Amino acid sequence: MKEQQTLSNKAASPADSEKSELQKTAVRQQREIADLKAENLASGNENRDLREAARLDQITIENFKQAQRQIEVLNRSLQSRNRALEAVNKELEAFAYTVSHDLRSPLRSIHGFGEALQRSAAAKLSPEESKWLQKVLDAAARMDRLTEDLLRLSRITRSQLKREVVNLAQVAREVVHELRQTDPQRDIAFAISDSLEVQADPALMRVALGNLLENAWKYTGRRPQALVSFGRQQRDGQTVFCVRDNGAGFDMAYAAKLFAPFQRLHSAREFSGSGVGLACVARIIHKHGGRIWADGKTGEGAAFFFTLPDQPLLVEDGEPAE
Ligand SMILES: Nc1ncnc2c1ncn2[C@@H]1O[C@H](COP(=O)(O)OP(=O)(O)OP(=O)(O)O)[C@@H](O)[C@H]1O
Ligand SMILES: [Mg+2]
Repeated sequence: MKEQQTLSNKAASPADSEKSELQKTAVRQQREIADLKAENLASGNENRDLREAARLDQITIENFKQAQRQIEVLNRSLQSRNRALEAVNKELEAFAYTVSHDLRSPLRSIHGFGEALQRSAAAKLSPEESKWLQKVLDAAARMDRLTEDLLRLSRITRSQLKREVVNLAQVAREVVHELRQTDPQRDIAFAISDSLEVQADPALMRVALGNLLENAWKYTGRRPQALVSFGRQQRDGQTVFCVRDNGAGFDMAYAAKLFAPFQRLHSAREFSGSGVGLACVARIIHKHGGRIWADGKTGEGAAFFFTLPDQPLLVEDGEPAE
């Protein structure tokens, strides 16, 4: 009994409690290991996700770099094409200038000596021969006008752009004053905005506005009461200038031809002209980095719009005649 007691006492001995402590520790450690395993698994997944994300980032960066390299290659090829086009353009321009310039002197000789012949040999020529000679003179005069028009275009392209403050309204009023003197009897009203200050080449803008207003004057020639306006408006955050008239108008189906040299939408019998004015205007506006377009309706009038970028912001004042 004493021995049993000793045994049971032994069960509660420090060794036993140590054992149970050890067991508890083992259980705790097992739990910790399980937790760690679970944690590792989770962080493994996380790592995998991170690795995958990094891999995708790498692919994106590679694609971006490749796209950048392609853009650089394209840019270089565009630049070299641009240079080639510029060179060809310059050559063509020089050719047009030389041809139009150098043709003028022989042409004037043909015309001058033709006229001398007409005067001195008039009595000796048969009526038919006189007609032929007149045709030679007319053709030489027409060709002289054409070469002069080509020169006009060439000079605009070759000229250096000088930007200054220009009041387009003032320029327009001067043009109108000159136009009125050509036919003071005409019933034609001009509505021009008070002040239209822009940064532009004064001489070139004088040519551009001169052509647009001359056209308005000419193509309203058959209106008993003509009305022409020149003003500006804001459209999609841009300042747009407009010359509008209530004249003969034109068919919009042919609008694309308007700004090409020597293209006319009206016959010489209806309205005289050589079809170069608007080509000059377009070159001037493009030289300023602007755009030009037109709107018209046969028998109802026409409107010519243009922009001149890089202008200080303007206060909207609309078109005066509308
Ligand atoms: N305000 C307008 N109204 C109607 N048609 C126009 C107007 N302005 C131009 N056009 C049409 O556009 C064509 C081209 O105009 P453009 O000014 O270039 O030539 P043009 O007036 O015929 O001759 P020019 O070289 O003497 O100016 C004209 O022939 C005409 O058919
Ligand atoms: Mg014209």
